[in-house]
Amino acid sequence: MKSVREELERRRKEALLGGGQDRIDKQHKDGKLTARERIDLLFDPGTFAEIDRFVTHRCADFGMEKKKFYGDGVVTGYGKIAGRTAFVFSQDFTVLGGSLGMAFANKICKVMDLAMKTGAPVIGINDSGGARIQEGVESLAGYAHIFLRNALASGVIPQISAVMGPCAGGAVYSPAMTDFILMSEGTSCMHITGPQVIKAVLQEETTEGGKPITSQLLGGAKVHMEKSGVAHFAGGSDEDTIRIIRDLLQFLPQNNREKPPVIACQDDPGRMDELLKSVVPEDPRKSYDIRKVILPAVDNACFLEVHKDFARNIVVGFARFNGMPVGIVANQPAWLSGALDPDASVKGARFVRFCDCFNIPLVSFVDVPGFFPGIDMEERGIIRHGAKLLYAYCEATVPKITVITRKGYGGAYDVMSSKHIRGDVNYCYPTTEIAVMGAAGAVSIICRDEIRKAKNPEETQKRLVAEYQEKFCSPYKAAELGYVDEIIEPEETRPKIIQALDLLKTKSETNPWRKHGNIPL
Ligand code: HXC
Repeated sequence: MKSVREELERRRKEALLGGGQDRIDKQHKDGKLTARERIDLLFDPGTFAEIDRFVTHRCADFGMEKKKFYGDGVVTGYGKIAGRTAFVFSQDFTVLGGSLGMAFANKICKVMDLAMKTGAPVIGINDSGGARIQEGVESLAGYAHIFLRNALASGVIPQISAVMGPCAGGAVYSPAMTDFILMSEGTSCMHITGPQVIKAVLQEETTEGGKPITSQLLGGAKVHMEKSGVAHFAGGSDEDTIRIIRDLLQFLPQNNREKPPVIACQDDPGRMDELLKSVVPEDPRKSYDIRKVILPAVDNACFLEVHKDFARNIVVGFARFNGMPVGIVANQPAWLSGALDPDASVKGARFVRFCDCFNIPLVSFVDVPGFFPGIDMEERGIIRHGAKLLYAYCEATVPKITVITRKGYGGAYDVMSSKHIRGDVNYCYPTTEIAVMGAAGAVSIICRDEIRKAKNPEETQKRLVAEYQEKFCSPYKAAELGYVDEIIEPEETRPKIIQALDLLKTKSETNPWRKHGNIPL
């Protein structure tokens, strides 16, 4: 007869093995960590507490009564990440392919409910064949219970999804409703329809770029980082992906009622970086990398870029100024001249809204020639999508600091955290041009007759362009009107932003009462 203690020990050991050593070995052979190894890396050593370790499914169909495993294919619990509480559910592919049935879903719902009650982030690690086929409609119900909680937790606690294996079918919609998705390169995929189903539905022959669709890894990290924008970060391995989750959490508060964590700053708040003097070219047609403005300005040149490979004409990410976390939004002149297209607008809008939900001040670097023109853009809905970014900036009540580095043209000037939509402190460099459009374009429209009738049209046009430039393509008209608060030298960027953030620490602003706004989705 086993003692009580031995029995507990035996069961614990069995639970640790998930679907068994062979399947653990297979998981490693496939370049993936196990659900428990991922958790060990995620949390500070020795802080993880597991919940529902001995839960099993209650399905008896298709021989399932013989396939019971402790934990039912998902490890759930809580622990500390850099000293702060976080909840996790980590799907275990070694048990029935990490497929989700009702008991599995109930475990996830339990940690999500606890995370909401205690006001702490929840991290979901996805590695699953999707709905457990043997459990039929119960697994669909289980997913729906999770989806509902994802929606209710949105904007209350940070929700982070890591995809480290398959994530297929409707299962993708839980990560898709969370704040950030990370993927491990080479081992993860997200798709609505897997290769086998495409093969069955399309009867195999359909090709994309000459290759049969069924032979391609559908929805890998590269596609979702560069094309679809579904993924915000990609790690080179599971270890790398988990490191990014830990880094990301350092910028976030625990919930929407807290401020983000301020840390001791090792970088001089008064530092004026000489590099900044020469980054922005005087010629407005020359491009430069806006990250060369961001990096010298922020603490220790440390910038966690979000959505790095998607819609590169706008750069978004987290950094600190004098230890204070901020969200940075910056037009990128080095990509499509920094013009706003549908993808850039949506990328920017989502980031602005995330920061606003979680009390993270916004610092915007503006160098924007306008919304991207053309028939293609109109057809892709630049009006509908551009409105999202405008709406997001308008409704945001967190501290908003703006630095115009060069161009602020057209409607895009208004959009990018201008004074007119409640920018709190707006700076610009002396090289700034704020106008309806560039001088050449403007003169060709408003002075067409004068140029045509002139004895020397070329010279007249030159003179008119110079006059227009003098009048409108400088920051002084905007400064006269109070549309910028201060014209600063580029090297003053860091101390000025820190001064403004310090001022705005006590900012309080609210929007009119409503059930919710109707952002143009
Ligand atoms: C039950 C499943 C399963 C599932 C995998 N398994 N997916 N069991 N339900 N959905 C089991 C397999 O039978 C196998 O068990 C074990 O997990 C490992 O799977 P393998 O196929 O051997 O692994 P691998 O070759 O790595 O392929 C992984 C896979 C493939 C690509 C995920 O298993 C697959 O295509 N599964 C089906 C995916 C799918 O179509 N799911 C439904 C999506 S729709 P044994 O014991 O034989 O080793 C969906 C709807 C959600 O999820 C709706 C929400 C609203």
